[in-house]
Amino acid sequence: MRLPFTGPWLLAPMEGVTEPCFRELVLERNPPEALGGAFTEFVRVVAEPLPTKVLARHLGERRFAQPVGLQLMGADLGALAETARRAEKAGAPLLDLNFGCPAKGALRGCSGSDLLRDPARLEATVRAVRDAATRVPVTAKIRAGYDHADDVEVLARAAEAGGADLLTIHCRTRAEFYCEDVEWERIARAVDAVAIPVCGNGGVRRHADLERMRAETGCRYAMVGQAALGDPWIFSGREVDAAEAARFLLDYAALLATRAAKPPSRAVGRVKQLLRVWTAGGLVPDDERAAWLRQRDPERLLDRLRAAGESADPGRNAAMRA
Ligand SMILES: Cc1cc2nc3c(=O)[nH]c(=O)nc-3n(C[C@H](O)[C@H](O)[C@H](O)COP(=O)(O)O)c2cc1C
Repeated sequence: MRLPFTGPWLLAPMEGVTEPCFRELVLERNPPEALGGAFTEFVRVVAEPLPTKVLARHLGERRFAQPVGLQLMGADLGALAETARRAEKAGAPLLDLNFGCPAKGALRGCSGSDLLRDPARLEATVRAVRDAATRVPVTAKIRAGYDHADDVEVLARAAEAGGADLLTIHCRTRAEFYCEDVEWERIARAVDAVAIPVCGNGGVRRHADLERMRAETGCRYAMVGQAALGDPWIFSGREVDAAEAARFLLDYAALLATRAAKPPSRAVGRVKQLLRVWTAGGLVPDDERAAWLRQRDPERLLDRLRAAGESADPGRNAAMRA
């Protein structure tokens, strides 16, 4: 089935981060020809299919030129298949299956990365969702293996045999968790093993790495996770100033408070989560990061961001006051 992505770079699914507010801000700031799509956080399906309204909540209210894939994770094939049908009804333009989550909860339910030890089950899981979803593409996201990467090809072929329209491969094994050093050669091996398009993932740190990953591995798409938390403009490669960077974080806090009805402390907690790794605009020099994070009063932290947003861009503020 035709993939609806509008460009070659994709925002990774990230639990606790890529809920509708964060996604919306990133999608708004990167043109569709660069950022081609995004994904929800993983949505766990246990014994019962999820209600359509829960799926719709994950997809969010706003629609963009870029598709937002709904990511499912589960071990009960019947419940997954029915959830897939409901997800189509809820308007999901694409369904993604998570075979990489290293969390213990996922393993207890025999889902997520646990299926990297059982390619036949991985294939059956893809097939169950592929058969259930009649109108939208189904994609699979795997890690390079469970405790070694010897079977990348086997896992990639299992996803393809199950009917996946795209394979995303996060090149770390489950055992490697989120280690610094990554081996893109594993992505190249997956590309060689299957005929379906492959999306490479793992260790992209800056915009230039995206094209480099494509050139070195032959993957058609490249996906960014952690680096997008520090620089949401990584997809377009646009260099923003400190003011624009501060405004992203202020907009994020405001959206979380209004749209997601988070109390100020929770909204600012999310902002701090980004400040820990923030690189965009030189807003948070390394020697000032600890001071930003020490600020306990949510309003004072927002004040500091407002000051940064104003001081670096006098032209814009003058225009706003006029
Ligand atoms: C905070 C966090 C949450 C994540 N949640 C998910 C998830 O819900 N589903 C998923 O498939 N991968 C998840 N991942 C993995 C990312 O999608 C991605 O595969 C991984 O971060 C590697 O890419 P990177 O090196 O660019 O960060 C998560 C990663 C992080 C850092």
